[in-house]
Amino acid sequence: MKTSQGHLNKIYERILDEVDVGIHAVDETGKTIIYNKKMMQIESMDLKDVINKNLLDVFIFKDNQSSTLVQALQEGRETTNVKQTYFNNKGREITTINNTFPIFQDGKIQGAVEIAKDVTKLERLIHGNMNTKGSTRYTFDSIIGNSPAMRDVVEGAKRATRTSSYVLIVGETGTGKELFAQSIHNGSDRLSGPFISQNCAALPDNLIESLLFGTKRGAFTGAIDTPGLFEQANGGTLLLDEINSLSIGLQAKLLRVLQEKTIRRVGDTKDIPVDVRVLANMNEDPIDAIANNHMRKDLYYRLGVVTIFVPPLRERKEDIPLLVQNFIEKYNERFRMNVKGLSEEVRQSFMEYDWLGNVRELEHIIEAAMNIMMEDEEVIMYSHLPFQYRSKMQMKERMLPHSTVDTFMRENGDVTIPLKDQMEQFEKSYIEIVLKRNNSNISKTAQLLGLSRQSLQYRMKKLNIKID
Ligand SMILES: Nc1ncnc2c1ncn2[C@@H]1O[C@H](COP(=O)(O)OP(=O)(O)OP(=O)(O)O)[C@@H](O)[C@H]1O
Ligand SMILES: [Mg+2]
Repeated sequence: MKTSQGHLNKIYERILDEVDVGIHAVDETGKTIIYNKKMMQIESMDLKDVINKNLLDVFIFKDNQSSTLVQALQEGRETTNVKQTYFNNKGREITTINNTFPIFQDGKIQGAVEIAKDVTKLERLIHGNMNTKGSTRYTFDSIIGNSPAMRDVVEGAKRATRTSSYVLIVGETGTGKELFAQSIHNGSDRLSGPFISQNCAALPDNLIESLLFGTKRGAFTGAIDTPGLFEQANGGTLLLDEINSLSIGLQAKLLRVLQEKTIRRVGDTKDIPVDVRVLANMNEDPIDAIANNHMRKDLYYRLGVVTIFVPPLRERKEDIPLLVQNFIEKYNERFRMNVKGLSEEVRQSFMEYDWLGNVRELEHIIEAAMNIMMEDEEVIMYSHLPFQYRSKMQMKERMLPHSTVDTFMRENGDVTIPLKDQMEQFEKSYIEIVLKRNNSNISKTAQLLGLSRQSLQYRMKKLNIKID
């Protein structure tokens, strides 16, 4: 093998993209110079939004959470296994566990590197793999919801139990796609057959290929004769979770299997017939997924014979009271409590909230609230709700109403200014006002703005805000 620098760089790049941890490196000014594939997945970012940009321009660190990367840069501090929660530029919350260290050269800090594990994904991976062999728990009776939208979806799903057609289940995270998949299996005549679920996002390509289709002894070093999940699911149902994360190459192979109804183990030349009903879940709209190259059109046509769209909770808020009642009963039993319901304030706030985490988020909030209630308390009060919920709600309340922006624009509006400049101008004025009202106290101002001191100071420098 040649070992020129260019050649080595290629190898490094490939390694960076293949490892299963996120890697993010910045230079001494805080500008991103390395950002690997896994990190893009963890933080839901595109490379172009991050690379060569200052990290404090891209990510938002709230309150007392400061970026471990910036700490490494500014204080030379090394941190291990620190849990960090922050937000990407689309406002999406990210939780990771990091190891961060500064890079020294000639005694000076030249940059810093962060190695991150995605905790949310990790939890899901463990969960998903338990499901691989596990039995199914859910039936249509488990699906709570009385809204017309939900009733329609359940009706559609029930019709799908009569056949063995492939089904594509589309919906945001936490809307109950897994529930639907299991219910369809349990309501069909495949009920006594196996139900196997595999998350397509959790594993690298070659592994998932061997896992799905099996291997023949000698296909690669160490390969033994193993049946894949298709063979194991024979006579039953195979749920492919996050199908839009499957590589385009593997999607082509999958399509072939769906058409021919035979599989070929990796390294084998023999076709094995399989009788498997495939269900697939995805959290992206199929049209977008096709446009973004996350899904092959032909696979969509094959898989989406029956497509079930599970609506997000904010589009069926009528379901909230029933869901709340069910979750309260569930945790009353589990925690041996006697909670009766919500206070009026909580009820109203639930109806206004956006529920980006959908039913899963609602359940977590009820569970969290019931964890901190006193034994004899019977009503969930606003103060019982978890801090994250309350701060998101507060942010929403304090937002400028549309009419205010409208009036402002009518009076001062120059609509030829690009949005970015207009926003920057607003950001600058707003920070200046809050600073002034707090006698230029940085900590206080940062706290009110929901930023770390670091983030505030960075923004002041960038926007050229001076304090006198
Ligand atoms: N309609 C519903 N009735 C009762 N519980 C629900 C409902 N929808 C979701 N849940 C609960 O919310 C949680 C998340 O549901 P599920 O795992 O099916 O989500 P998902 O759509 O597969 O999300 P993801 O895309 O994140 O995997 C589960 O614990 C489930 O019990
Ligand atoms: Mg799921």
